Amino acid sequence: MDDRERLQYLQAMGIDVWVPRDAVAEQPAAAEQGAEDGPGATRVDRPPADDGDTVMQAWRQLEQEVAGCRLCPLAETRTQTVFGTGNRNADWMLIGEAPGQNEDQKGKPFVGKAGLLLTEMLRSLNLGREEVFIANILKCRPPDNRDPRADEVAACQPYLQRQIALIRPKIILAVGRVAAQQLLKTDAPLAKLRGKVHYLEEIPVVVVYHPAYLLRSPLEKRKAWSDLQMAERIYRDLQD
Ligand code: URA
Repeated sequence: MDDRERLQYLQAMGIDVWVPRDAVAEQPAAAEQGAEDGPGATRVDRPPADDGDTVMQAWRQLEQEVAGCRLCPLAETRTQTVFGTGNRNADWMLIGEAPGQNEDQKGKPFVGKAGLLLTEMLRSLNLGREEVFIANILKCRPPDNRDPRADEVAACQPYLQRQIALIRPKIILAVGRVAAQQLLKTDAPLAKLRGKVHYLEEIPVVVVYHPAYLLRSPLEKRKAWSDLQMAERIYRDLQD
């Protein structure tokens, strides 16, 4: 993507493009950032390097289990499960909260208006949706889009852990407060979680604003942009 195109995406996100791209003074340097996440943070047991057939079989098995899951009461109210979409060898994995009405209808994560903005956020990182893997904490829609309940998260967590273990992403974006709190097992508010790097095992996790929140609070888009830039820097540093 050239600079002009990138600028257009930033403008589509509502970012004031005159903001200096390094204006991220509120963010501590990555080296100063400690892993201060709760002791019960989501575990990622990485499987040993595996041959392609075994990995494909593991994905198939996981997809079937999710599709037929009845481990929590959301099975009664969902239209369908939302497994997650994208590149199963992705460097970047995005984890949201739970399917909403559109996702429940379509069977895909982040469709609808918030999904469009998420796509723009990815494009500002030079990433297409097909390059990343997008999943949620919950695979089923909670009625009326209420927050996930502890029993639902506990039932669904192994599915996400298996997805992470199969993908082995280089970096995870926790999209929104609920996803961040559930993933990192903390009650800390989003304001405390953003702007620093967390770790799930050794995978860096960057917390970003939920696009639905950004649609309601466009003034926060500037901070959202700096969080994305920080994630990009962390990812780039991993390549060195
Ligand atoms: N919000 C989420 O957190 N996930 C989705 O898939 C859709 C909306």
